[in-house]
Amino acid sequence: MELAEKRIALGVTGGIAAYKSAELVRLFVKQGASARVAMTRAATHFITPTTFQTLSGKRVFTDLWDNTVDNGLTHISFSREADALVVAPASANFIAKVANGIADDLLSTLTLARDCPLLLAPAMNRQMWKNPATRRNIATLRADGVTILGPADGEQACGEIGEGRMIEPEEILEDVVAFFQPKHLAGKKALITAGPTFEMIDPVRGITNLSSGKMGFAIARAARESGAEVTLISGPVNQPTPRGVSRIDVTTALEMRSAVLRQASGQDIFIAVAAVADYRPEAATAHKVKKDASAPPTINLVQNPDILADVVALPDPPFCVGFAAESQNLAEYAEKKRRAKKIPLIVGNLIQDGFGGDENTLVLFDEHGQTPLGPAPKIRLARKIMERIAILLKEKNHATY
Ligand code: C5P
Repeated sequence: MELAEKRIALGVTGGIAAYKSAELVRLFVKQGASARVAMTRAATHFITPTTFQTLSGKRVFTDLWDNTVDNGLTHISFSREADALVVAPASANFIAKVANGIADDLLSTLTLARDCPLLLAPAMNRQMWKNPATRRNIATLRADGVTILGPADGEQACGEIGEGRMIEPEEILEDVVAFFQPKHLAGKKALITAGPTFEMIDPVRGITNLSSGKMGFAIARAARESGAEVTLISGPVNQPTPRGVSRIDVTTALEMRSAVLRQASGQDIFIAVAAVADYRPEAATAHKVKKDASAPPTINLVQNPDILADVVALPDPPFCVGFAAESQNLAEYAEKKRRAKKIPLIVGNLIQDGFGGDENTLVLFDEHGQTPLGPAPKIRLARKIMERIAILLKEKNHATY
């Protein structure tokens, strides 16, 4: 439950994307939040209040002059009882009103009267989004501390293609969850490796490690949620890129190493989560190796470079974090590895439940000792790791001065 006990006020304005907001309410509720919905009159032409009432289990507000509630002061109580006001979809007209402090209906009035953070998910035709007036309004809202979610690029209800579509409900959910996370790493740059590497034997075969990439992707997401600018270098995996993360796909250890070294300068943090293959075939054959029962092929292996060690050895290295997956003696091996690799933090993982699950049990090893984490979902563990990194980074900075 990513939004346990969070109270979300959801505003819905008039636009075809309003039908997607029903799914958004369902997602909020599924993640443990309570959702209270207010709609503009135009929104009620696209979707009925009954839909939202059913999904949220709460009365839906549509009228500024509804005198059956709180002495008619819906606009005051609505946001006072919320941890965030999310408006999705937010039409160009609504955005213009909020940017200028206009309060001429229920939703714009309660937006002006709010004392909680405001997140807007714009949805409009691409020309409206590009219009200088909208550009000005969005800049004003950003300067006022309003969070703008999206919009996305793509096909529009009118048949045109361009920027202005509302981002998908799942994406809004991910952004809202991220919004509530503490910004431990604000202003920092983080480089992360994830997934396995795949070392070609011939065009159709290779050597690899078992790694789903889930932990590395959770780390990238958590780093982004904590406010870092994140570059994720991933081997072949089947994972969606976390929102706001810039991703570079690679296949082999050598490609991963070049990508990492190209990106390393200016990074504050490097987290090596990838399960890099220790060896690669000396040379991949250009054509598929044919089966020959009388003479099974021999594959000569050469060692791959240790990417983490190469980053640690840079003249001005970032704060480096390693992972140690062990099948026994975790404490001993992981701490030894931390010292051998000369890194401030290593995340130990006792391989016992196989690979690819959504949960994990970890132990953090740093100069202060050990911190066990979990069992817990990988994203929770990743957030704890960010917290620890932020503490260690602060100590490091103090030590330098
Ligand atoms: O020495 P070992 O392979 O167990 O170390 C694991 C740590 O080193 C992980 O953080 C892994 O991402 C990193 N590593 C690397 N390049 C390699 C091997 C491991 O970056 N070739």
